[in-house]
Amino acid sequence: MKYLFSILAIISLIFLGAKSPLESEDNPIFNEKTKVSDVLERLGDKSIKHFPNTSYAGVSAAQGENLVKNGFFQTKSEKKSAKQSKHFVCTSCHNLEREDPDLSVADPQARLLYTSQRGIPFLQGTTLYGAVNRTSFYNGDYDKKYGDLVRDARNDIREAIQLCAVECAQGRELNTTELESVLAYLWKLELRLGDLNLDAQEYEQLEQGVRAKGNKKETIELLKSKYLQGSPATFVAPPENRKKGNELIGDPNNGELIYENSCLHCHEESRYSFFSLDHSKFSTKHLSKHFERYTRYSVYQVGRYGTPPMNGKKAYMPQYTEEKMSRQQMEDLRAYLKKASR
Ligand code: HEC
Ligand code: HEC
Repeated sequence: MKYLFSILAIISLIFLGAKSPLESEDNPIFNEKTKVSDVLERLGDKSIKHFPNTSYAGVSAAQGENLVKNGFFQTKSEKKSAKQSKHFVCTSCHNLEREDPDLSVADPQARLLYTSQRGIPFLQGTTLYGAVNRTSFYNGDYDKKYGDLVRDARNDIREAIQLCAVECAQGRELNTTELESVLAYLWKLELRLGDLNLDAQEYEQLEQGVRAKGNKKETIELLKSKYLQGSPATFVAPPENRKKGNELIGDPNNGELIYENSCLHCHEESRYSFFSLDHSKFSTKHLSKHFERYTRYSVYQVGRYGTPPMNGKKAYMPQYTEEKMSRQQMEDLRAYLKKASR
């Protein structure tokens, strides 16, 4: 009987064209699954313009995902595309999950703990989760590395993807169908209100903001203060005196997390690099010994400058900015390698 009533109620709502019960004054419109972009749209914000163009033939979020994870694109009728890169896939350097407990700050130590609890790696590239919610890319010092190339990518996610495909992944450019498909996939990884640690009062403010007539600027600002609009990047040099290092006391346990979740992500069994590393004393001793030296195996060197792409062997190591590995974490890694090599 109860069911019959509810069914009748729903049917009459549909027929009478009444407002959905969700839209009425006292029911909340938003919950933790609500897309951040939907809220911004209802508030009249127009800062995000990079929606995928799905009118190109063959655009598919599923194939975008395939390209990001496996490096190629495949349509029903056609064969597999050529690999985007011989050396990497996007996930060599980028996570696809949320990686920070608080999205309004870039804190590498908070990220290290958050990612290692969830069993995901700790990497040089910023997670692609929420990438479509950002409005600027390759921020801060990246123009020092890529110069003019960054100019087009800074405010344009499509250019940022292409720059990364060619310069970071050392591969080929994506064609239009592939590019729009990757973008369609990235939209599946957009932020939800549940990612923003909003309290009940802030949810209420958002609701009020949407319902109120007039100026919604403050509500937009509140929402945007909860996540970074771009991922900051500060390049750091190795310490002046590599023997003394950063003059901070390293925590080997923290260093072990970095070794496991970052270095080994690429170097274990030569996954993305010819240079193979593991937990053996052979590996840790080698790195520990070279840490303070001026050689190609010094972690201060490769960690802060990366390695240059070499001719014919173009896999290279991206550097860690200060936001991706703090000076303290560098010393933690050093302390771990020293301890593990004894
Ligand atoms: C070898 C490592 C590497 C690979 C492979 C790689 N990237 Fe990146 N990517 C980076 C680094 C480093 C940055 C610098 C900015 C950042 O992410 O903080 C970056 C930046 C980006 C940005 C801009 C992010 C921002 O917020 O500034 C996007 C988008 C991106 N990459 C997409 C991709 C896609 C898509 C692929 C695969 C086709 C890919 N990347 C492959 C390392 C890589
Ligand atoms: C995104 C993948 C990636 C991550 C993460 C990474 N590396 Fe690398 N690393 C590479 C690649 C690629 C090279 C290029 C050399 C090659 O392939 O032979 C390289 C080169 C190096 C070299 C120089 C080797 C040589 O033959 O000159 C050292 C040392 C090194 N990495 C150490 C580390 C340490 C320590 C970490 C962790 C802090 C780390 N790497 C994290 C990909 C990575």
